[in-house]
Amino acid sequence: MNWSKDILNKIEFDNISNIEEKRKLGEIIASKVQDGQVIGFGSGSTSYMATMAIADRVKNEKLNIIAIPTSYEIKMLCNYLGLRTASLMEYKPDWSFDGADEVDDNSWLIKGRGGASFKEKLNIVNSPITYILIDKSKKVSKLGEKFKIPVECVLESINYVKEELIKLGGRDITLRKAKGKDGPVITENSNIILDVKFESIEKQLEKQIKSIPGVIESGLFIGYNVEILEY
Ligand code: A5P
Repeated sequence: MNWSKDILNKIEFDNISNIEEKRKLGEIIASKVQDGQVIGFGSGSTSYMATMAIADRVKNEKLNIIAIPTSYEIKMLCNYLGLRTASLMEYKPDWSFDGADEVDDNSWLIKGRGGASFKEKLNIVNSPITYILIDKSKKVSKLGEKFKIPVECVLESINYVKEELIKLGGRDITLRKAKGKDGPVITENSNIILDVKFESIEKQLEKQIKSIPGVIESGLFIGYNVEILEY
């Protein structure tokens, strides 16, 4: 028997900014899909639009692909759309795609507004290439000019992590609050997120943040194998 899956039809994103640009980016990434591929799926509204476009192609052309999703949100969307999903335990992606909050001229990124940067980084390091889909609002001349850096850490470590982030130059550190639940955001890995402002982001900062005991991952992506697709 098949489930009706109607419970999943509210996975849709509300109020997507620059939706026409994101729709076009979705079409561009969907045109890269080939039958039999394993593809890493990012998270956020751009990845949502890309997932919809890929699902259309898969359905119309009867393609067989496997999606490696980076969040419950995209896993559930794939499930709703009939796209087969698996994890990095079973498959290595042929390529991946994702969105970003900020991209600079070096293709350094800030990601993680959606709280999924841990698995997003895992997909990126496991993929020969990851296409980062951005509309013009994402390009910045100085990384960190609009967004704070999300830092996912273990709950017990937050006071220590906060002090260490300040030593690295972090300012205006806030605990990310949940919407639809009282208290903090609890990530898909059962951790919390501190959002941190850095006036200056140097090459070593990602590794410095990651080396703080208690930190699981940050939303800073410096020097990864990515290709920026801008529309
Ligand atoms: C999800 O955790 C994020 O990394 C997103 O990829 C990033 O925030 C971009 O989101 P939008 O595509 O919604 O702008």
